[in-house]
Amino acid sequence: MRIGMLTGGGDCPGLNAVIRAIVRRSLMYGWECIGIENGWKGIMDMYAHKLDIDSVSGILQKGGTILGTSRTNPYKIENGENIVIQNAKTMGLDALIAIGGEDTLGVANKLAKTGFPVVGVPKTIDNDLNGTDYTFGFDTAVNTAMDAIDRIHTTAESHHRAMIIEVMGRHAGWIAMHSGIAGGADLILIPEREIKLAELIKVMEDREKRGRSFSIIVVAEGAKISESDQKDAEFVLQDQKLDAFGHVRLGGIANMLAEIIERKTGVETRATILGHIQRGGSPTAYDRVLGSRFGVHAVEMVKDGKFGRMAALRGTEIIDIPIEDAVKELKLVTDDFYEVAKTFFR
Ligand code: F6P
Repeated sequence: MRIGMLTGGGDCPGLNAVIRAIVRRSLMYGWECIGIENGWKGIMDMYAHKLDIDSVSGILQKGGTILGTSRTNPYKIENGENIVIQNAKTMGLDALIAIGGEDTLGVANKLAKTGFPVVGVPKTIDNDLNGTDYTFGFDTAVNTAMDAIDRIHTTAESHHRAMIIEVMGRHAGWIAMHSGIAGGADLILIPEREIKLAELIKVMEDREKRGRSFSIIVVAEGAKISESDQKDAEFVLQDQKLDAFGHVRLGGIANMLAEIIERKTGVETRATILGHIQRGGSPTAYDRVLGSRFGVHAVEMVKDGKFGRMAALRGTEIIDIPIEDAVKELKLVTDDFYEVAKTFFR
């Protein structure tokens, strides 16, 4: 048996834990492992190499991915689907494990429908994949963001400022919610709940009345806010470009908010955009363990011929679900969870 694996989309802490687990488990069965480089691009260009026990030694604690990654979408390339299928045959692959988020797994889902033997592993710091309670990488990103919020707290208090911290998450507010609650944010803005500027200012004024002369506001990059209640709020974008999966590049809402808040309230306000800092570095213990469990489960899925399925965490169990269920819509912040967070918005 010869199995290929690839990592696609944004890099993510815990990817190497998954790769290591796949290789180690496969070797237990005497299988051969092929690491495909740079996501779907590697299978299109046939860039791949053999992975043995030495190739995955010492990688568990490393961030990023030893295989490299890309946002290549074979379905945006002429005859892309056939090229992937043909190249996998040429490489002698009996199965492929695709480790990625909605885009990488979206491709895997389409390929699976043609009968291509692929299984998925859910990766993303955004935690927005359906059917799994958590994706690996999320815990590390949240802890990094929480650390940053803790540090920014001291400046906010000392200088009596409003501090806006922008976190990633694309169209889901999970990173903002978890890091905001853990970091004691006074307000959390997420894509799932539009907030009026007046409400935000009211929170700050109420704090001022209670003698709290600073505010910590965590904002997800995909949140929207409108200065006037008459205008429709819009995403803040870094530029107008779309990637191969049609995604815009979000980012910059913290700067916009800081400017508006300072102008409207007179309170000195600063913005910090955490950006890729929250995606890099060594994975937490939680992500190392989750990634390892997903990797082992993916190999078991291949062994059992469970193609077109993705490893998932349900409670404390690792199960598997159709990839289709994971990618058909985003997993967004629930009303219940938002209600919990609102307790602390003051
Ligand atoms: O999906 C992970 C993520 O980090 C998002 O939170 C963010 O919007 C996007 O990727 C950034 O992508 P890039 O690294 O291509 O700028």
